[in-house]
Amino acid sequence: MKILVIVKSIHHQNTVKIAKVIADVLNAEIKTPREVNPEELKNFDLIGFGSGIYSDTHHKAIFNLVDTLPQVTTKKAFIFSTSGSPGRFAEEFRNYTSKCHIPLKEKLQSHGYKIIGEFSCPGFNTNSFIKFFGGLNRGRPNAEDFKRAKEFALNLKQESFEEVK
Ligand SMILES: Cc1cc2nc3c(=O)[nH]c(=O)nc-3n(C[C@H](O)[C@H](O)[C@H](O)COP(=O)(O)O)c2cc1C
Repeated sequence: MKILVIVKSIHHQNTVKIAKVIADVLNAEIKTPREVNPEELKNFDLIGFGSGIYSDTHHKAIFNLVDTLPQVTTKKAFIFSTSGSPGRFAEEFRNYTSKCHIPLKEKLQSHGYKIIGEFSCPGFNTNSFIKFFGGLNRGRPNAEDFKRAKEFALNLKQESFEEVK
């Protein structure tokens, strides 16, 4: 099973840290959108798309890449992100980030991708005036976030292998 993790991580490298944990479990390659040749994606069985959340959605480089992808029928994908909104209210955080994932999810689905999992966690945020107060989510992603990312990847692995069996 060939797996690719595509990540755009520009603010504090928060999302690439998560991408590395996921890729490690899945034995996957990691690339930035710029490094991806859309044609090569046909060689992968499962593709992950992730970035920090910017203005309530994924980074535009991810959308620009997806725009160039050929239509597929049986390709599986997963979505991940880190977000600067406060992580201490778990349920609100989950509701917010799952809304932020919708535009990318719908775009991938419109290209024929089946979304088999989504992951999000808080990421250190010093955007705009927030930096004057020391930033939000300092130290995130943390050990607990990496543990959840690992569990997420293990679940993906199990699901993908189950389908192959
Ligand atoms: C220009 C800018 C816009 C941002 N917009 C949002 C936002 O709308 N919602 C949010 O929760 N976090 C927002 N953030 C915080 C980032 O999502 C967060 O820091 C994320 O972990 C960055 O990931 P990265 O280091 O992988 O780029 C923004 C950060 C920047 C720099």
